[in-house]
Parts: sequence; structure tokens; C-alpha cells
Amino acid sequence: MLKHLLLIQMAFIAIYGASLRDSIVFDGPSGQWLRDPRIILDDVSGVPPALRLNPVGYHHYDEMTAYLRAVNAAYPQLTSLYSIGQSVQGRELWVLLISTTPSEKTILKPEVKYVGNIHGNEPVGRELLLRLIQHLLVNYPQDDYVRFLMETTNIHIMPSMNPDGFEVSREGDCGGVQGRYNANGKDLNRNFPDLFKGGKNNGDPQPEANAISRWMNQRQFILSAAFHGGALVASYPFDNKEVTLNLPHLGGRYQPSLTPDDDTFKHLATMYSFNHRKMHSAGACFPGDTVFPNGTTNGAAWYYLAGGMQDYNYVWNGAMELTLEVGCCKYPKGETLPEYWEDNKQAMLKYLGEAQRGVRGQVFDSQSNPISNANIRIKGRTFGSKTTNLGEFWRILMPGVYTLQVEADGFLPSEQTFQVEEGLPTLINVSLRRGTDKTNTFNDRIPLPQLQPAQPPRRTSIFSSLSNFFGGLGRAK
Ligand SMILES: *[C@@H]1O[C@H](CO)[C@@H](O)[C@H](O)[C@H]1NC(C)=O
Ligand SMILES: *[C@@H]1O[C@H](CO)[C@@H](O)[C@H](O)[C@H]1NC(C)=O
Ligand SMILES: [Zn+2]
Repeated sequence: MLKHLLLIQMAFIAIYGASLRDSIVFDGPSGQWLRDPRIILDDVSGVPPALRLNPVGYHHYDEMTAYLRAVNAAYPQLTSLYSIGQSVQGRELWVLLISTTPSEKTILKPEVKYVGNIHGNEPVGRELLLRLIQHLLVNYPQDDYVRFLMETTNIHIMPSMNPDGFEVSREGDCGGVQGRYNANGKDLNRNFPDLFKGGKNNGDPQPEANAISRWMNQRQFILSAAFHGGALVASYPFDNKEVTLNLPHLGGRYQPSLTPDDDTFKHLATMYSFNHRKMHSAGACFPGDTVFPNGTTNGAAWYYLAGGMQDYNYVWNGAMELTLEVGCCKYPKGETLPEYWEDNKQAMLKYLGEAQRGVRGQVFDSQSNPISNANIRIKGRTFGSKTTNLGEFWRILMPGVYTLQVEADGFLPSEQTFQVEEGLPTLINVSLRRGTDKTNTFNDRIPLPQLQPAQPPRRTSIFSSLSNFFGGLGRAK
């Protein structure tokens, strides 16, 4: 084996000259020399072997875990590695936080997350996120934009939300469903509370989706993206819609289902697609498939789905999440991964910068104590968020004039007008006066359905597995 590798190496040196020797990369996690040393992701020549990814291969659970641990050990000042729970089969749901302040509590530094591989057989996002980790850490010392991101943002990266599904998926399977579901046969992107179904979803809450919900209760994320495959488009909420008589399977067409934050969502989706090398100008994936003008779509206008993660992020948590479909083939061959990384790199980096838009601030009482759990909304935009235990809030908004509405138990509601400009976020503090007079409580609020507390999973019936199977055929998001 070693002799064989040395021969390959010598052959390359003979062809390309001795200078190439430096670019032949040993892949620590897999213990292999790269198959094609001409394909180099970024310049990782100064990086120790254990911290280098195999640019032309997928990283299975053990390799991914080893890589994340190695990175965390090598960059303790810039990373924090944690697990938000375990999959059905007991795999950790790893998150790597990348930031200049990974373990301090910073005031008003926004929390952003990237989640990959929610469908186990759509692993390009998983690999893109591992490459993003490598890119951020390797480029931190010399890239001003990367440093800016890490100084201003807490970037939480979860390469795989469905590690069990990934392990049973097949490399090269572009359109199938094997590995899409978790180990209980459930589609995780149908497993979140749904606004249009009274908070219901596709049945028993699954450990992977529960872990995401708990995570979101612990941190006020403001910007997010989930990576999928099987199409090439940036899709934005809502994914679901009030039931109408015009159902597509009765001959109707899918109708858009737009949020009150549609301007922001359209901007975010366009920002991703135009910074992607192909998404904004791509045609149909397959003959007869949907063509997405500018590479963006409202989720419902594409097709309806209930229990999706992006609607849940937005409705219940005030986190703006997109569903990013990063390629027509769900599980392409590993050799193509460098191309996917080049396609998405700029878009992934630029999108993180969108957390700097809009408004942020803190809510205090008259003695300057922070008020946690206050309801924050932008007038006319229905869905809001809650303040953190330091009274912090954030909202991504396009330039314009807005009214902030704040309500908290035991205090009088407050309204405040402010302006958002392009560039840096607007900072405002809100001071609430104690009181119980609710006569001018904001009346355009939509009460959200009450959520059931998370339950332990039960066995999935054969019928729900079957309906999952047919529901998932050919589906991407
Ligand atoms: C596509 O993008 C262009 C340029 O931003 C814009 O003018 C146009 O309205 C967009 N079209 C669609 C269908 O979104
Ligand atoms: C908001 O309050 C904090 C804490 O008192 C203070 O440091 C900050 O300068 C205030 N910001 C604005 C815009 O008033
Ligand atoms: Zn998907």
C-alpha cells in the first residue's frame, strides 16, 4: 500500500516537477493521500495534516467527529465544539461554534447557524460546511472579511442533522430516498410544529428535531440556513399555506405563501443565489423540471409541505431561515465536491454577513435591569422573537423606517420608531415602565398554536413509514 502511494507520488513529481510535492496532501481523518493532488481546496499547505479535509471525499461520522475534535483542539480561541443531543442511533449532533469569542458571553453579538444534511441522502451541504470550517480557520489570520465575520458573529455550524440517514445513503444516488429519513423512518423536515396545521406535524417528535427545538430555545438565532440537495435554488418561507380548494392534486397550481417579511426573505435568497456561481442563472435540473427565475423561490410556490424547519424557525423563533438546494444531484460522487465548494463558497460567506443588517438593542426596566423574555415585534410583521436573559434582541430588516413594539409581563407596552440604513445595524435601547394597563396592547398579534412539550419517541407505524416513502419520492426540500 505504502509502496503504491509512493509510486503515485513519484509519478506526479515526475510529471509536474518537484514543486508540486508541497501540494500533495495527506488526509489525516481517512489516512489516505488525496486521489488527485491537483485539486486543492484552499491553500492548506501550512495546516497540520489532522486539520485538512479530504477535498474529494465524504466524511463519515467517525471521520467528521475526529476532524471536529482536531479543529477544536487546534483552535481553542476560535472554536467551541458541542453536541445538541443524539440521533436515534446515538450519534452526536455536533455543532462547531466559530467566533473570536467562542466561550464568552458577548452583548449583542448575533447568533447565526448553518445546518446540513437534514435529509441523510443530501450530504453536499455536510461537506460544504466542513469546508467552510476549514476555510474560516485557515483564512482568519490574513482575510479581513473572514476576521470581520468571526469578530462580529457567533457562527454555529452543524454539518449533519441526520447522521444516521447519511450512513445508509449511497454515493452516486442522485434522486433516490434511501437515507432521506432518520432511523425511525421519519422525514425530519416534516417533523416541526406547523403554523398552518395548528402546531402539528408528521407525528411523533423525533430526537433530532427535538434537539433543534431545544437548541433554539437556548439561543436566539437571528439568521439561519439549512442545506439540501436535489435542486438548485434558494427557497424562503412559507413552505406551507392555509388549505385551499385549489389543491394541486385536484388540478390547481401551487400558490405562493408569503410572510410579512417577504422583502427581507427575497433579499436573503437573492443574495445567496447571485453570489453562487450557477444558482441565479441555472435552468431546469431535469427536462420538464421547475425553472426558478433568479434561482430563488417562495417555498409554497414550489410545493407545499407541512412541518418544515424553515417555517418553524421563522414563526416560533424569529430566525430568518432559508432552505438552500445546492445541486441537482442529491449525493454526487466525491470527486465533484471541489466544484460544489467553489460554487457555494462566496455565497456561504456573504450570507453570514447579512446578520449585520437591521436593528438590535436591549430592553431594560427603569432601574436599567435587563428584561428577559419580552416579546419583540416590528409593527405589521406579526412574527417576532423574545429577548435573551441580557434583554437583547435583533431583527434583520432592509433599509426603511419601522416601529418596534415591545411587551413584557408586568410592564406597559412600548412603541418606538427607528430607521434602518444600509451598512451597520441600528442600535436602540428600550426602557419599559412597570404597569398592568393592557388597554393599548398591540392588537394585530396572531396567537401561535400551543406547542406540546417534547415527548420521548415512539415506534413509527408501517403506515407512516409508507406515507413518508411516497411523500418523499423525488422530493428535495
Ligand atoms: C431577478 O433579479 C433581477 C435583478 O435583481 C430583478 O430585477 C428581477 O425582478 C428578478 N426577477 C424575479 C422573477 O425575481
Ligand atoms: C444601551 O444600553 C447599554 C447598557 O446601558 C449601553 O452600553 C449602550 O450604549 C446603550 N445604547 C444606546 C444606543 O443607547
Ligand atoms: Zn432535502
